[in-house]
Amino acid sequence: MAKEAGKSKGENLAQVDPSLSTLHPSLIPVIAIDGPSASGKGTVAQRVANQLGYHYLDSGALYRLVALAARQRGISWQDAPALAALTQTLNIQFDNGGILLDGTDVSEDVRTEQTGKGASEVAVHPEVRAALLDLQHSFRRLPGLVADGRDMASVVFPDAQTKIYLTASAETRAERRYKQLLEKGMQADFGEILRDLQQRDARDSQRSTAPLQQCRDASLLETDHMTIEDAVHFVINAYELQKK
Ligand code: DC
Repeated sequence: MAKEAGKSKGENLAQVDPSLSTLHPSLIPVIAIDGPSASGKGTVAQRVANQLGYHYLDSGALYRLVALAARQRGISWQDAPALAALTQTLNIQFDNGGILLDGTDVSEDVRTEQTGKGASEVAVHPEVRAALLDLQHSFRRLPGLVADGRDMASVVFPDAQTKIYLTASAETRAERRYKQLLEKGMQADFGEILRDLQQRDARDSQRSTAPLQQCRDASLLETDHMTIEDAVHFVINAYELQKK
């Protein structure tokens, strides 16, 4: 989801120095964090954004919203032209951690496994990806942005100051997801979760447009044996180091 962190700080900066409001976007720092499903990149990215007082973009939420809206309107996840047209008309609001679609709170609906699968399917279409580009760029505002997804470093913000490829083995990710579902009191089947994740990994990394990949200039962060705090520390450290 595209929640925002540090909004007031950004507004204050622009008020102090009006020239900042016309700053070229490339001068606004971006930390791009890409990685596969359930790698924990969302949690890490959000915490990094909070710690730095930066804005936060969860680009996966946008693909999830397209899939959800398509389903509600009877549009197939395979119908690229209709999906692209739909994407242009979506009325999305990010409100205090919640997501509104046409004024209705869909925060829970966008997080379901079914919507996640749909997001991975609609994300295959170049037309849909192109239709979401401007919206993603609009999150690049002062004092900075932490963006997570699959193609943040390669396509959306290729000039990001810091690029991280955050991953973990499919087994570790399936185990994390399995525990999350149990904690929520939901039924879960480990084998099914693992198979779903592997299918989604394959679709996300084998598609021809903007596949999930580690960019040559991205730092690899393998989190199998790391705490969230360690991962947050790694990202902030990488960012501080490149500023020197
Ligand atoms: O990060 P997530 O699980 O919320 O993403 C859902 C799907 O959206 C993912 O399987 C692929 C797609 N996606 C994408 O193609 N590009 C992005 N930048 C983010 C997500």
